[in-house]
Amino acid sequence: MILVTGGAGFIGGNFVLDWLAESNEAVINLDKLTYAGNADTLKSLAGDARHAFVHGDIGDRELVARLLEEHRPRAVVNFAAESHVDRSIHGPGDFIQTNVVGTFNLLESVRAYWSALPEAERAAFRFLHVSTDEVYGTLSADDHPFRETNAYEPNSPYSASKAASDHLVRAWHHTYGLPVLTTNCSNNYGPYHFPEKLIPLVILNALAGKPLPIYGDGQQIRDWLYVKDHCSAIRRVLQAGRLGETYNVGGWNEKANLDVVQHICSILDELRPREDGQSYFSQITYVTDRPGHDRRYAIDATKLADELGWKPTETFESGIRKTVQWYLDSQEWVQNVTSGAYRDWVNQQYGN
Ligand code: NAD
Ligand code: DAU
Repeated sequence: MILVTGGAGFIGGNFVLDWLAESNEAVINLDKLTYAGNADTLKSLAGDARHAFVHGDIGDRELVARLLEEHRPRAVVNFAAESHVDRSIHGPGDFIQTNVVGTFNLLESVRAYWSALPEAERAAFRFLHVSTDEVYGTLSADDHPFRETNAYEPNSPYSASKAASDHLVRAWHHTYGLPVLTTNCSNNYGPYHFPEKLIPLVILNALAGKPLPIYGDGQQIRDWLYVKDHCSAIRRVLQAGRLGETYNVGGWNEKANLDVVQHICSILDELRPREDGQSYFSQITYVTDRPGHDRRYAIDATKLADELGWKPTETFESGIRKTVQWYLDSQEWVQNVTSGAYRDWVNQQYGN
């Protein structure tokens, strides 16, 4: 079996669902259920003996040691993190606590477990750390997309905390020999995405008749990857990645934010036209920019393609259409996540 952390979040939840759809290998799912964790995402696994959910913190060494001893996983896949840049600007403390201190504690628990394994199991064991392209900082328009060899230049409290966690993972390999793999992925989108992030926020605000907030001039570029393609990349790296290596994961889908939002508006105009006959484009609203906003991210995923033969299956056009349709079809999930705590965040971030 494998131990997944943060498996009630957006990517971790998709990963667990896909893992159990693709194989019969059991999953222990450790998640703190912060505001971003959602047990509803895992509802379809109720009664499935291959999935055990454990409510807890990656930084709780006693709990993690017990889980490792009891279940003896052959791998740990670490998704657990604070993940939203804007929240890291309002309050960086939780990011340092989970992403840095939490990862440190998790590495120590895993190291103790791994060191005591019999030789064959120790050789086969893997710790896969899921990270982000934001650790590389920002690109200008004519820079080459991020390669694994780019220097780390994080610009936000979030990306700095992820960069720190990547460095810890690297050091635990070089110093202690822990068999680690790190993936640095670009922006994901797809089902079960918490609506504080651009794409789900825009879909839900559009349907609710609310403004679609564009930070600054809307010309910042992100490289979008459908979440299920990210999950397949992680499975592939876990299976065949070289120990101690990092792999960049991206969709070759660079888009300016304004183009993304306009694309969503066009799909909604077609699938769920507004009752007043107007286009959703009329809800687009420019708001104050994010402080320190990175201008462009783009991933060169050549290493992953050449070494491990991975490539994404969705284009942005196919993936975003599926995503919009999923939100139209998943009102119960949406209603459950847009709770009081979510409304408090929206008021803090966007005012009225
Ligand atoms: P998310 O915020 O949706 O989910 C994070 C999950 O981790 C939640 O379920 C939360 O409850 C859990 N968690 C938080 N702190 C924890 C702790 N101390 N102990 C145990 N569980 C805890 O995040 P996401 O978008 O699914 O991202 C998952 C990982 O992928 C993160 O490490 C993130 O940095 C990375 N990543 C995200 C993206 C993206 O576009 N979303 C892109 C690249 C990398
Ligand atoms: O690049 C990978 C990263 O992608 C992950 O590591 C992060 O966990 C994930 O949150 C995401 O970070 P971003 O900051 O790029 O994603 P977000 O959806 O918050 O914003 C995408 C872009 O849209 C960004 O340029 C900011 C902009 N934006 C965002 C929001 C929420 C807006 O213009 N308006 C908004 O209301």
